[in-house]
Amino acid sequence: MPGPGYYWIGKEEEQEVLSVLRDRYLFRYGNEKDPDFKHKVKTLEEEIGNSFKSGYALAVTSGTSALITALSAAGIGPGDEVIVPGYTFIASITAVIICNAVPVLAEVDDSLTLDPEDVEKKITPYTKAVMAVHMLGNPCNLDKLSKIAKKHNLILMEDSAQAFGGYYKDKRLGTIGDIGIYSFNFFKTINAGDGGMVVTDDEDLYKKAFAYHDQGHLPLRMGVEIGKRSIIGQNFRMNELTAAVLLAQFRKLDELIRRMHYLKEKFKRQIEGMDGLSFRRINDDKGECGTILTVFFRNKETAEEAAKRLNTATVSHSGWHVYNNMEQVLEMKVINPLLNPLKNPYYRGNVNYKKGMLPKTDKLLERAINISIGVVDAGLGAAFGLNIDSTDEEVSMKVKTFKTVLRQVL
Ligand SMILES: Cc1ncc(COP(=O)(O)O)c(C=O)c1O
Repeated sequence: MPGPGYYWIGKEEEQEVLSVLRDRYLFRYGNEKDPDFKHKVKTLEEEIGNSFKSGYALAVTSGTSALITALSAAGIGPGDEVIVPGYTFIASITAVIICNAVPVLAEVDDSLTLDPEDVEKKITPYTKAVMAVHMLGNPCNLDKLSKIAKKHNLILMEDSAQAFGGYYKDKRLGTIGDIGIYSFNFFKTINAGDGGMVVTDDEDLYKKAFAYHDQGHLPLRMGVEIGKRSIIGQNFRMNELTAAVLLAQFRKLDELIRRMHYLKEKFKRQIEGMDGLSFRRINDDKGECGTILTVFFRNKETAEEAAKRLNTATVSHSGWHVYNNMEQVLEMKVINPLLNPLKNPYYRGNVNYKKGMLPKTDKLLERAINISIGVVDAGLGAAFGLNIDSTDEEVSMKVKTFKTVLRQVL
């Protein structure tokens, strides 16, 4: 069960993909002099980069490869700590480990995004970066996080995988920190099955990110350029078919967000003020994506009972989005023990992980339920709710079900 863009896949995506197939240019590089080569990846980067005013945009294969590319471009590696929230998709945390650095888990606040106060407490001499994750389409408190990052000379990364298209104070999410990333997987605002993007306005970071994602090449090579590779990199290149789908999806973005705001408001207004119920704090009402409506119950017991009756789960039980459910991270299970960043000889800190280590986060998540608005994802604890095509009548029916359950459990 997917994100909103999936529901609106139509003729536009078909035409974009067919044009790539007909011209047989599937690779991001081709003959620039051939009018048949439509350079969809480059066009996607330009359209998003220009529209978001991000400076540079680099298309990659997934949100995870975007995170690894961004962390690598920022030079994060052995001995470094990166502060990440304990409530995020597992990739925000494991990407740090893949780069041989140490993720330091921090609390979220009642916005379910990184708690700036706890971030400040978690800073050590080894901290190199803070990863602000705009969880469930809700912007982090970027004013406070930017201030902290500046004060301590840290890199501010924005994991905007779940918030493509959102804003914070009229600037696009992902473009406010030093470097940002997006995901275009099946569950995200717009999707091509998989795909990702890195954005930054720093030329040096962009060049390094580009080289990292393309076997060390400098930006915009025209083809095979033997001997011109500046560093050792990977292959995280996006292909033309993926970019073709994303171009069509991107052109629907603003309408998708408008529709989610409409549906969310409609649902929210009808349950507002009910006894024993409150809402997640939103750091920018106008700028959030509206993908999910998160509600807090009075306590864990009522939340769990309501979740059961709604055929969903509390956020605590939303799998690999909650640090308590990430055994592989808590036990640092890496294939090669030499790649355990906690045991790296350059690492001087003493971080350890255990269930229950973030009590504020635990208390919030155990009484929270995610109601789907545009992202229908049981893995996110959002199995109950609407989808982007829900009619007013369907909204009323879901509201009725929700209210009935609420009355039963309170
Ligand atoms: C917050 C967050 N970061 C990173 C990712 C990784 O993105 P992808 O699945 O495209 O690799 C996701 C995907 O679910 C995510 O939600």
